[in-house]
Amino acid sequence: TSAAVAAVLAVSAPGIAAAACDDGEIVIKFAHVTNTDKHPKGIAASLLESRVNEEMNGKACMEVFPNSTLYNDDQVLEAMLQGDVQLAAPSLSKFEKFTKQFRIFDLPFMFKDINAVDAFQNSDTGQAMKESMVKRGLLGLAFWHNGMKQMSANKPLILPTDADGLKFRVQASDVLKAQMAAIGGSPQPMAFSEVYGALQTGVVDGQENTWSNIYGQKFFEVQDGITETNHGIIDYLLVTSSEWIDGLPEDVRTQLLTIIDEVTEARNSESTKVNEEAKQAIIDAGGVVRTLDDEQRAAWVEAMKPVWDQFEGDVGAENIAAAQQFNS
Ligand code: LMR
Repeated sequence: TSAAVAAVLAVSAPGIAAAACDDGEIVIKFAHVTNTDKHPKGIAASLLESRVNEEMNGKACMEVFPNSTLYNDDQVLEAMLQGDVQLAAPSLSKFEKFTKQFRIFDLPFMFKDINAVDAFQNSDTGQAMKESMVKRGLLGLAFWHNGMKQMSANKPLILPTDADGLKFRVQASDVLKAQMAAIGGSPQPMAFSEVYGALQTGVVDGQENTWSNIYGQKFFEVQDGITETNHGIIDYLLVTSSEWIDGLPEDVRTQLLTIIDEVTEARNSESTKVNEEAKQAIIDAGGVVRTLDDEQRAAWVEAMKPVWDQFEGDVGAENIAAAQQFNS
């Protein structure tokens, strides 16, 4: 299938406009918050859009709204339940109101790399998580990868004590709030689209995110530097309304789900590369990247890991143990 994937990538090249929706086509609106071409999620969404519009022409039509142009992540799930948008891929940190199961993905130093995340998601435990919100009207279709989080601030962060007293933007997740409190920081939940301005004006001092997000949103321009901590992950759930997908004609649903599976496989295997390119692009643009030696990194682990105990009841000791197996 790699030749097929290459052919699809060729037709999804920037500059080729998406087909406009025709009468009678099922319209699938997909809202997300990142850019379209230098980000694991944005690239995957664009590929999905071009494949659906090519292969399902006459039956369905996808319109992607990137860069928070339609909804922020804190609005999109409610809009989905209202039927105003059919697909979204919020980070797993953004399902707080719907399930506590995803808290495992926010626990610091839970997964050593995205391969461990992938293995956990593909286990029976992980796959069952996609259906954990059906009672609330949401069905997970696939996990999409971004990558490992890094820390940045308006001063160098070498040891966790450097974070003491700083305000950090976090996604609206109790685990992430606890993580920042554990290093003496003050967590400030905020929408992704507001972070650049908040860093620039000093409303917050720092933030945590993946290379592709730090590059895509230009956070490095308004921070002293980025410390390569790899302390956590950002991953996504491609999610839809269970009522909407159940109501699709069976052939349309089957074809859509097949394309989603193929796009997921093709793009998840490239997510690390996209983040490495973003890291290099930050360095090329003059951004400062700091690495930690083993002793320094151990200090971050020691400071943050006690957060696990606070959330063990929510995520289950057995799930933590299962996740840890994939790190070896
Ligand atoms: C964030 O809010 O920092 C991320 O969830 C944004 C994203 O979608 O990667």
